[in-house]
Amino acid sequence: MKKITIAIDGHSSCGKSTMAKDLAREIGYIYIDSGAMYRCCTLFCMREGLINPDGSIQTDELERRMKDIRVSFRLNPETGRPDAYLNGECVEREIRTMEVSSHVSPVAALPFVRAAMTAQQQEMGREGGIVMDGRDIGTAVFPNAELKIFVTASDEIRAQRRYDELVAKGEKPDFNAVLENLRERDRIDSTRAVAPLRQAEDALVLDNSHMTIPEQKQWLLDRFNERRD
Ligand code: CDP
Repeated sequence: MKKITIAIDGHSSCGKSTMAKDLAREIGYIYIDSGAMYRCCTLFCMREGLINPDGSIQTDELERRMKDIRVSFRLNPETGRPDAYLNGECVEREIRTMEVSSHVSPVAALPFVRAAMTAQQQEMGREGGIVMDGRDIGTAVFPNAELKIFVTASDEIRAQRRYDELVAKGEKPDFNAVLENLRERDRIDSTRAVAPLRQAEDALVLDNSHMTIPEQKQWLLDRFNERRD
């Protein structure tokens, strides 16, 4: 049976990656977390001193250094999910911190960063059989994807989910800082000039504010089965 391309876009912390990963595992497709790729670029900037104390980015230097950023994914046998690697080093934990979250949207808005990541994403999905989540997958990366989903949930619910996730990882976040961060990222992601976050015209919308993880997993599997048939 022909393998299709599945694009899942939406606001920050709305549970896209959980549903995308679960679906990919269930149907034997490859899962790619495009946000992890922008987070890796951001971690690179932080480590190389390319983010100034006022939060601005040394864009000329970053553009010169883009060729030094190699992002890949490898399956973690313990979790059964792919981990992100930056130049061969597993950075799955480092890229999920609040510090990376606070710098990622300005980095992801840079046109040369988007061009480099989009090219890699298109290459990864060349054969189909992929579930990719992000902000611009159904609009810019795979505009011809057979199944497009746009996920959203209320700000407070999304912030609570992200807060719980950070606490579970041993961080001590401030709830209001988490809420502010996701609102600010949504604002930057939706208003940038290149490939802004928006719903593709042919996307199916899912508001999962009041859905459990098993419910949203089933919803997505049903949409996949409908589309494939
Ligand atoms: O996990 P969360 O939904 O909060 O964010 P993410 O998917 O890890 O993405 C982190 C950031 O990367 C977003 O806030 C966007 O600024 C950027 N991003 C993007 O610009 N385009 C994508 N396709 C995916 C992420």
